[in-house]
Amino acid sequence: MIKLKFILLFTILLVLHINGLDQIKKDKISKNVFNRLGTDLNNTLNIDDQIKLWIFFNSKDYIIENKQSTTSTGQTQTPSNQYKQIQSITGVNDDSIKRRSKRSINKKVPIFDETDLPVSEKFIKEIINDCNLNHEILSIKLLRKSNWLNSISIITTDKTIDSNDKSSSSSSSNENFQLNKVITCISNKKFVESIDLVSKLLNPQSGQDEIKEIRHHRFENSKNNNINDFNNPISKLLGHVKLLSSVQDDSSTIKYDKSFYGESFQGISQTSIDKLQRLGYDGYGLKIIVMDTGFYKDHDAFKHLKIIGEHNFIDNTNDTQEDPVENEDPRYSQNFHGTATLSVLGGFIPGKLVGAAYNASYLLAKTEIVEGEDTVIEEDNWIAALEWGEKLGASIISSSLSYQLYNYPEMNGKDSHLTKAANLAIYKGMIVVNSMGNKDYSIFGAPADGENVISVGAVDSSGRYAPFSSIGPTADGRIKPDIMALGVGYYIALSTSRSSFSSVDGTSFACPLVASGIALLMQAHPDWNTQQIYQAVLSTGSKASNPDPYVGFGVFNALGAYNFRPSVGDCYSTGCSNHGICCSSQCQCAPGYYGKQCQYKRVECGYRCQYDFNSICQSNNLGPSYTCVSQNDTANAILNQDPFSILFCKKSDNPTSTTTTPKPSTNFGGLIRIVISL
Ligand SMILES: *[C@@H]1O[C@H](CO)[C@@H](O)[C@H](O)[C@H]1NC(C)=O
Ligand SMILES: *[C@@H]1O[C@H](CO)[C@@H](O)[C@H](O)[C@H]1NC(C)=O
Ligand SMILES: *[C@@H]1O[C@H](CO)[C@@H](O)[C@H](O)[C@H]1NC(C)=O
Ligand SMILES: *[C@@H]1O[C@H](CO)[C@@H](O)[C@H](O)[C@H]1NC(C)=O
Repeated sequence: MIKLKFILLFTILLVLHINGLDQIKKDKISKNVFNRLGTDLNNTLNIDDQIKLWIFFNSKDYIIENKQSTTSTGQTQTPSNQYKQIQSITGVNDDSIKRRSKRSINKKVPIFDETDLPVSEKFIKEIINDCNLNHEILSIKLLRKSNWLNSISIITTDKTIDSNDKSSSSSSSNENFQLNKVITCISNKKFVESIDLVSKLLNPQSGQDEIKEIRHHRFENSKNNNINDFNNPISKLLGHVKLLSSVQDDSSTIKYDKSFYGESFQGISQTSIDKLQRLGYDGYGLKIIVMDTGFYKDHDAFKHLKIIGEHNFIDNTNDTQEDPVENEDPRYSQNFHGTATLSVLGGFIPGKLVGAAYNASYLLAKTEIVEGEDTVIEEDNWIAALEWGEKLGASIISSSLSYQLYNYPEMNGKDSHLTKAANLAIYKGMIVVNSMGNKDYSIFGAPADGENVISVGAVDSSGRYAPFSSIGPTADGRIKPDIMALGVGYYIALSTSRSSFSSVDGTSFACPLVASGIALLMQAHPDWNTQQIYQAVLSTGSKASNPDPYVGFGVFNALGAYNFRPSVGDCYSTGCSNHGICCSSQCQCAPGYYGKQCQYKRVECGYRCQYDFNSICQSNNLGPSYTCVSQNDTANAILNQDPFSILFCKKSDNPTSTTTTPKPSTNFGGLIRIVISL
């Protein structure tokens, strides 16, 4: 009887499917996809030749038996064989586990959780097999898998456009019909949570800013610059290595002044990073992942560099370097931007160019494509690279990605996929350093809106705001940038030859400078968690007592951060700065405040929201509004909320915290929470 029912149901479904009566599940489709398809989902608007989609799943479809035992002290333990098994399933290496256990904000969080588990291969297969209209006009191909977001990215390819004969065979309504069919099929999978477009992030202005400077500065290369001045940089390097490791107080031998740092001295001394180096910190033992366009590893500045892993996420190879192109404008070289940022972090030619973290280990990820004057990054590649680096044990990511196509109201620290991934990285104990971008008053880029992402803007050599540096605040009134560093006339390694250098402008270079300083800070304070590092950096910036939307908390002060005493313990002992209340060990802030201890005041929503971004400030009958929402947002209800009043702890379990760590997927498919104690 049961069998019969099943067969009947199956037959009906099959018939429905064949007749194409499946309806698109609109509640699973994001606004972006909807707009792309056009309001009439059955027909109409043109689609481009290719469209990249995110497909989010609602489960990992994974069961791990929970064999935990409880020790006499009440701690849960997982047998070591099971621990090893989970480690091998997730691919998280020992360094990453060490970092997670040391740097996570909440040390009680599990070392592994469901975000580490692989995306279900069964689900992927079902999508690719069932929804691939291979025989018809449109085909789909799997691109990336994100374990953290439990999603895959796919690309649809219009076969009529693939063939040379574009004009005759393609009819836009037919294409759209096909795309509609694909999306209908995907949306009808019950394990599919939602579908969104993969944002293609475009940075059309940064290149130009940087180029202007290059034109204004004399190119130095081996032909017109006497490289013998630095006779044999290698032996010089080794000399310094010996001195650093054998002599503790070696300020008598290395002066850590301009004679050592050369042209890098300005940015390094302005941030007092030289003082930390004088104390013996050079990034040793830390892994830094750098995401950029490509890296000219043969440059003299990188002769000493410890590169422990590379991945090219554009071509899926292990090489992040492209052959240098001669006689070409260096701006359009795939290696230009990455070579420059890497030299700020870890370049090492004493007397000429020194990056502060020259003794760190590097993971290089190539995620951005240079297309003519534009730099393009697709967010699925960026997220894939972040997950790759985290698993391999990176403690810091330096990313000079700077502009993107999210709308301003989405820059609220939680909406963009990039920011969600960045928040998860921080949750797992990484420091995410991101440039603000060079778009002055216009929008700044995700993931710089993440609450604990350290977003970096640019100042000049006198510490003044550089007028191109993008400003915040976020759509929910948090101050961005967080911190500033030199981004005007920055001396960098140029990718045109092994010994070319130039000076450039951009927040892209302030970002790795701050990241290198934070590497020294992490080396000096191995026990600080990400929250404490964030707090130390912000609390000691040159404008810490009076932050503003242009320069945030001011110029980075590495020595100050090093000497800072961050708060320890939960909010029962540290309090919530009189702007919040401690509930279940976490501050619940009054709506006008934010931060781990509600120590920061939000910026009122106003001119920028309304006139710069053509959006509206959510009305609040009881006080100022701190939230910018889009014109058509139905959530634009009037609030009746005193932004300064402190609420009571909710009776129910955990109050909603102000941190933006994404919740794990709603349905774990029977997965038992994995708890491991080391
Ligand atoms: C799309 O087509 C279906 C079935 O043919 C129909 O029921 C539905 O009303 C159409 N939708 C629109 C927006 O025209
Ligand atoms: C890096 O640090 C280690 C440990 O202090 C030391 O042995 C090594 O020589 C240093 N390398 C460089 C390039 O300074
Ligand atoms: C990249 O490196 C990994 C590990 O070193 C190796 O397993 C893989 O085959 C390499 N891939 C390519 C395309 O060279
Ligand atoms: C908002 O709605 C108006 C009309 O209702 C429409 O013309 C406009 O395109 C919409 N804007 C967005 C961003 O959806």
